[in-house]
Amino acid sequence: MSSPFADRPSIPVGPLMSIFDPVFLGIDEFGHPVYLPLIYRNILIGGEPGAGKSSLLNTIVGYAALCHDCDLVLMDGKELEFGLWEDSAAEFVGPDLGHAIDTLERVQQMLNNRNAFLKSQRRQKIERGDTDVRPLLLAIDELAYFAASVGTKIEQEYFSALNRDIASRGRAVGVINAAATQRPSADIIPPSLRFLYGWRYAGRTVDDASSDVILGQGWASRGYSAASIDPNNRGAGLLLAEEGIPNRVKAAFMTTTDIIRLADYTAWIRGGAADRQLTTELRPAA
Ligand SMILES: Nc1ncnc2c1ncn2[C@@H]1O[C@H](COP(=O)(O)OP(=O)(O)O)[C@@H](O)[C@H]1O
Ligand SMILES: [Mg+2]
Repeated sequence: MSSPFADRPSIPVGPLMSIFDPVFLGIDEFGHPVYLPLIYRNILIGGEPGAGKSSLLNTIVGYAALCHDCDLVLMDGKELEFGLWEDSAAEFVGPDLGHAIDTLERVQQMLNNRNAFLKSQRRQKIERGDTDVRPLLLAIDELAYFAASVGTKIEQEYFSALNRDIASRGRAVGVINAAATQRPSADIIPPSLRFLYGWRYAGRTVDDASSDVILGQGWASRGYSAASIDPNNRGAGLLLAEEGIPNRVKAAFMTTTDIIRLADYTAWIRGGAADRQLTTELRPAA
C-alpha cells in the first residue's frame, strides 16, 4: 500500500521568516541593533560610489528572499549586484530598459488587480497571513541608470512615471519599493519622488546638497549631513524615517561568499528557476 502522503508535494524546510517582521539592518552608534519595518513602506538609498548602497540592498534582498511570504523583482543596471539572486527572483532585470519597463508595467497591472480584489472584499490593505496576495519586494539598484542614463528621454520618463506610480500606490497591496542611486541630484530624485519613500538612507555623499536630496531639505543645516561620514567608513549612513531625526547606522554586510551561500539556499527553498513566474493575475483563492 502506498503512503497516504505520496501524492502531496514535498515542502522544502524553510526558515519561517516573514516580510511582515522588521528587517535587521545593522547597528546604531550605541551598538544597538537597528530593525526596519519594510511592509507598507518604501526605502530610498543614496550616496556616492562605494558608500555601501548595493551592499545594503543586498541585505534587504537577502532577508526578503528568506521570507516565505515575499516575492522578489530585482532590477540591476550593473547586473552583478543582484545577479547572484536571479534564481530566487520572480523576475530579474539586468541593464535593459525595455525589460525594466515591461516588468514595471506588469507590476503596475498586478497592483491594479490587487486593488480591485481588495476593494471587492471591502478591505484596504493586505495583512499578514494573506495567501492570495503575496508581498513583493521591488528592488532597483542604480535608479539613475534606468531613469537617466540609457534609452530615450521618453523611455526614461515613462520608467520614472511607472516607478512613481508603483511607489505611491503599491504599499497597501504589499509592494515594497527599495531603490538606490549613486547620483543623488534633484533631477533623479525630485522632492515629489522622495516623499514616496518613507525610509531614507544616506550613505556618504560628496556634499551637503546631495545629502539633503536624499534625506530632505534642511537636514544638513541642522547638522545631519552624510558628507560628514568618513569615506573609509563604508556602510555607515544616516537613516531617516518620515517622522524623526536621522540616525547614524552602520549597515550589516554580506561578503560575496555569504551571498552565494544564502542565495543557493533561498533558490532551493523557493524551487529555483522553475518557480520564476511573476504573476500579473491574482492567485486563485485556495
Ligand atoms: N556595511 C558595510 N560594512 C563594511 N564594508 C562595507 C559595507 N558596505 C559596503 N562595504 C564595502 O564597500 C564596498 C562598496 O560597497 P557597495 O555596496 O558596492 O557600494 P555602492 O553600491 O554604494 O557603490 C564593498 O565592496 C565593501 O567592501
Ligand atoms: Mg552599487
